[in-house]
Amino acid sequence: MLEVDIITLFPGPVGAYLESSILGRSQAKGLTRLQAVDLLDYCGGNHHLADDKPCGGGAGMVLKPEPFFAAVKDLRGDETKVILTDPGGRVLDHALARELSLAEHLVFICGRYKGVDERVRTLADMELSLGDFVLSGGELVALVAVEAAVRLIPGVLSDAESALEDSFEGEGLLDCPWYTRPAEFLGMSVPEVLLSGDHEAVKRWRRERALERTRRLRPDLLEG
Ligand SMILES: C[S@@+](CC[C@H](N)C(=O)[O-])C[C@H]1O[C@@H](n2cnc3c(N)ncnc32)[C@H](O)[C@@H]1O
Repeated sequence: MLEVDIITLFPGPVGAYLESSILGRSQAKGLTRLQAVDLLDYCGGNHHLADDKPCGGGAGMVLKPEPFFAAVKDLRGDETKVILTDPGGRVLDHALARELSLAEHLVFICGRYKGVDERVRTLADMELSLGDFVLSGGELVALVAVEAAVRLIPGVLSDAESALEDSFEGEGLLDCPWYTRPAEFLGMSVPEVLLSGDHEAVKRWRRERALERTRRLRPDLLEG
């Protein structure tokens, strides 16, 4: 079972997302335990103890170290991996999502404002980035990572939703194009082969299209 604790100043929206859709169902199936942890619970409920002005001056606020140290002390077990969300961290990709899906317990630290006090970094087993841009907080980073990881846990998705056909899986190609009815829409037709009932031909067509899309959009994925 994958257990996740997301330490945040915004437990409401984070908790609501963790209860929704596939993440919620993964918990109902007993395959995960996903929880938002209120940073204020480690500030004695006093918001003023969560952040402070930067030493040396300057605009903005910095999240204080004490609440994070207290929260991590409380949450950390033998198999816990603490992840600090930070634009300088390892960028999330499919391989990392798979690594996270195999973990037992993940604790995410979500920064806000100017970020966390530098000493909070010492709590982290890894730092995680979503890419070269700056968000206002680490909450979306943690949720994106958790969603990408949880859908890879066997049993979370139904057969019909299987992640095995998704982009980056198996041979590491992009996914093929998908169509549904109507067969004709605004002059655009569903490729004939998909309506032919010939399962082998459909399979071949899907693999060819996946290869073609990968070659065109992400040739780097075909290297090696
Ligand atoms: C406004 S950002 C602080 C940015 C920081 N001053 C900097 O320039 O690197 C507040 C928090 O959002 C999170 N964050 C923002 N962008 C991120 C990204 N691309 N990847 C991971 N975390 C991010 C981090 O937790 C960060 O501490």
